[in-house]
Amino acid sequence: MPALSWSEGLALGLSFMDDTHKEFVDLLAQAEASDDAALPAAWAALVEHTADHFGREDAWMLATGFSQGNCHSLQHKVVLDVLRTGQQMARAGNLGPARQMIQELALWFPQHAQSMDAALALHLRGVGYDAETGEVRSPDALPAMEISGCGGASCS
Ligand SMILES: [Fe+2]
Ligand SMILES: [Fe+2]
Repeated sequence: MPALSWSEGLALGLSFMDDTHKEFVDLLAQAEASDDAALPAAWAALVEHTADHFGREDAWMLATGFSQGNCHSLQHKVVLDVLRTGQQMARAGNLGPARQMIQELALWFPQHAQSMDAALALHLRGVGYDAETGEVRSPDALPAMEISGCGGASCS
């Protein structure tokens, strides 16, 4: 059994977020199941997908009233930097850090999804954000001031 499996407890009810999160869980499981020969490529696929995943969430936040340095985007940056360090080490033949990160990501992801991403999903629903077109259907619901936190109760 993988360290992290998809469950309905991870669903946020926004398909454009949930689909990406399911892909993340799958790629993490693929990395975990990889032997040493396959791990560098599996890790690279996870890092590439995560860069895209985080980049899209960051863009949605910027488009709907979050500040550039909001804490959700900062957390993305820190996690992605760590994953890229693991990628460099894996490429150099040191697979231990990536294997360790798989276990840590399996603990981190549910927390992130259920706090920061859940707050973002609520916010995007509130402003009527269309991820296909970038349209904000309820502009009156946009915040009067930029949000520098994550928009939820989970961040200080
Ligand atoms: Fe996410
Ligand atoms: Fe996120």
